[in-house]
Amino acid sequence: MFYFGVDYYPEHWPEERWPVDAQMMADAGMNIVRLAEFAWSRLEPDNGEFEFEWLERAIGILANQGIKVILGTPTASPPPWLMQLNQDFYRVNRDGRRLTFGNRREYCPNHPDYREYSRRIVTQLAQHFAQNPSVVGWQIDNEFGERCYCQICRKSFQAWLKRKYSSLDELNEKWGTVFWSHVFNEWHEIPIPISTGGSPNPGLALDYYRFASDSYVEFQKIQVDIIRSLCPGHFITHNFMGFGYEGINYFDLAKDLDLVAWDNYPRNQWNNPPMPVLSSTALSHDTMRGLKSKNFWIMEQQSGPGGWEMVSLSPRPGELRLWAYQGVAHGADGLIFFRWRTARFGTEEYWHGLLDHDGNPGRRFDEIQKMGSEIKKIGEVILGSEFKPSVAMILSYDSRFAFQIQANNPQFSYASLFHSYYRSFYKKNILVDILQVDDDLQPYKLVVAPALHVLNPSRIQSLRGYVENGGVLAITHRSGVKDETNMVVDSRLPGILAGLCGTTVEEYDSLGPEMSNEVEFVLPKGGGVQRLAVKTWCDILKPMNATVVARYVNDYYAGKPAITCNRFGKGWVVYIGTAGDEPFFDNLANYLIALSEVKPVLESPEGVEITERWVSDRRLLFVLNYTSKQQEVSFDGHYSDILLGSRQMRKVMIAPYEFRVFVKDKSTAELRYE
Ligand code: GAL
Repeated sequence: MFYFGVDYYPEHWPEERWPVDAQMMADAGMNIVRLAEFAWSRLEPDNGEFEFEWLERAIGILANQGIKVILGTPTASPPPWLMQLNQDFYRVNRDGRRLTFGNRREYCPNHPDYREYSRRIVTQLAQHFAQNPSVVGWQIDNEFGERCYCQICRKSFQAWLKRKYSSLDELNEKWGTVFWSHVFNEWHEIPIPISTGGSPNPGLALDYYRFASDSYVEFQKIQVDIIRSLCPGHFITHNFMGFGYEGINYFDLAKDLDLVAWDNYPRNQWNNPPMPVLSSTALSHDTMRGLKSKNFWIMEQQSGPGGWEMVSLSPRPGELRLWAYQGVAHGADGLIFFRWRTARFGTEEYWHGLLDHDGNPGRRFDEIQKMGSEIKKIGEVILGSEFKPSVAMILSYDSRFAFQIQANNPQFSYASLFHSYYRSFYKKNILVDILQVDDDLQPYKLVVAPALHVLNPSRIQSLRGYVENGGVLAITHRSGVKDETNMVVDSRLPGILAGLCGTTVEEYDSLGPEMSNEVEFVLPKGGGVQRLAVKTWCDILKPMNATVVARYVNDYYAGKPAITCNRFGKGWVVYIGTAGDEPFFDNLANYLIALSEVKPVLESPEGVEITERWVSDRRLLFVLNYTSKQQEVSFDGHYSDILLGSRQMRKVMIAPYEFRVFVKDKSTAELRYE
C-alpha cells in the first residue's frame, strides 16, 4: 500500500476532537499517521508509571477510519521527572557547557542510565502495542544529532579507542601525538576535542566524530533490537535530516533500519531565499534513497509556513503538493505531512500544519486533499518502482567530518562542492544515485567523487575496477589527501589516486575570498575554447600520462594544467583541480556527459523537472513545473497520463506549479490502474 498521511499529536487536543480529525483525515485520503514521538510525559507521567490507554483510544479512533499508525519512541524529549534524576543525563556542548531543561534532544546518548530508562519505555510500548493491528511500524527517537562532549562520552571514547587500536603506541603513532608533546602514556589521559582545548589533533578529532556518530547508531540499535524481538511484523525507521545534516554517518545509521525516512522542509526558515533550492531538496531525496539503495519515505513533509519565533513565507498555491510530489519523483514510497493541525502552545506555535490553529480546513488542506485522491489513483502503480540512474556520486562522511575539523579554505564547503556538481546534472534531468566509495559502481556510466579527502586504500578497489571496465570517473581537488587516521599522505597528491588519475598535483594555491583565476577549457569534438572563472582552490597539475582538458590563465601558474583526463584500462579518469561558479560546473558536466555518453531522462524548459521510475521495463515519467507559467514538454514517443487518463500524447502542456505522471504507451494495457 502507498501510505499517505500526517504527523498527529492527539495529546495536544481535547479527546472530543479526535473523531473529527480522524474523519477529516480519511476524507483527505489519508491511511497512516505517526504518533507519540514526543509523548514521553504522557506515556510515563512519573517514574515507572505507564499510561498507554489514551494512545490506544486514539489509535482505535483512527482505526475506525481505516488509518494505520507508526509509533515514535519518545526518547528525544525526556520529561522533567527523568532529567532531574541526574544532571549527567544532559548533553554537554562543544564549548563544555552542559545543557539544561527547556527544549528537546538534550540527552547524552552514552549515559548508561539514560539508556536504561529508554530501554524500559521502549520495551513497555513495544509489548503493549505488538499485537495492535493498526500499528505497522516504528520511528526510533526523532532526528538524531548533536555531538555530546561530557565525561561519560570521554570514557566511552577511550573504550572505543581501545577496541580500535591494538595499543597506545599504535594510537600515538597514527595520531602523530609526538607533535606538541601530546604522547599518551595511559588511555585515561586521552581528552575529547572540546573547544577549551583549542584546535584539536586532527586524528583525535576525526576519531571523536566517528565515535559520536557510532554513539547514536548504538543508541538506536538498543531500541531497534527491542522492537524487532517484540514486534517482528513491524517495520522500523528513523526520520533523517537529508543531505545537509553532517554530524552522523547516515550510511551507518541506516544499516539497522528497514527503511529510511526523512523530514523535508523546502522553505523552512524565515531568512531563507523566497524560492527553495529545489536541486538541494532533490539531492536530499537522492541521498536518502542512496543510504540503503532503496526507496524511502518522507516522515515530515512541509505543510505550511514554518516558524518557531518567526513565521516564514507562506507556500504559494500548488507548492505544497508539488514539493511533496518531488519526493515521489525521486523515490518516495510513503508520504507523511508535518503536521496535522498547528499547535496552539509550545515552542512550535508557528510551525504550521495542514490545518491552522482554529482547526478548520483551508487552502492548504484542500490542496493536500486533492493530492490524497490522486494518490489513490496512482499510488499502487508507483509503489516500489525503481530508479536506474547512469550517474553516481560518492558521498564520504569521513571526508565531511575531516573538513569540519580543517576546512582548508574558508570558502570551501564539502556540501556545497557536492551540491554544485549535483546541480549541473539536476538541471539537465540527469538522474543521480548517491553511494559510498566501495559500493558496486559497475551499473553506472559516470561516477563523480567530490573531494574524496580521507581514503582507506582497501576501499578504493571498486573505483579501480570500475574504471578498468570502462567507467568514467571524476576526481576533484582535495582528494586522496589524508589516510584514514586523518594524517596527510606521504606521496604526491592525489596520493593513492595518482595512478588512476595519471596526474599529480605539483603545487596548490588556496585563494582568498576576493581572489579568482580563470581556466581555458578545450571543449570536446572541436567545440572551441571556453574561458571560465575559478576560485577558492587551484591545484597546479603535472600530468604523467593524462591529457590536459583545461589550463589556468592567470598568475604564476598561467598555462599550467587545471583539469586532466587519463585513459585507464577501458575507462577514463578526469581530475578537476579547481572549482568555480555555476557556469564552471555546467561546463564541466557537459564535458563529463559527452565523455560518458550519459543521457537525460528528457529535455525540459528551465524550471521544469523530469524524472523517471521503472515498473520492470515500463517507464514512468514524472513532470514537475516549478514556474508560474504554463510549459510545454515534448516526449520521446507516445505517453499516457495516468492521473488524468489522456492517452497517446507526444507532447503536453503543463500548468503552473503542476505535477503530472505519464507512462510510456506500449505497456499501458498491462498496468494495474486499468
Ligand atoms: C522537525 C522535527 C519536528 C518539528 C519540525 C518543525 O525537524 O522533527 O518535530 O520540530 O522540525 O520544527
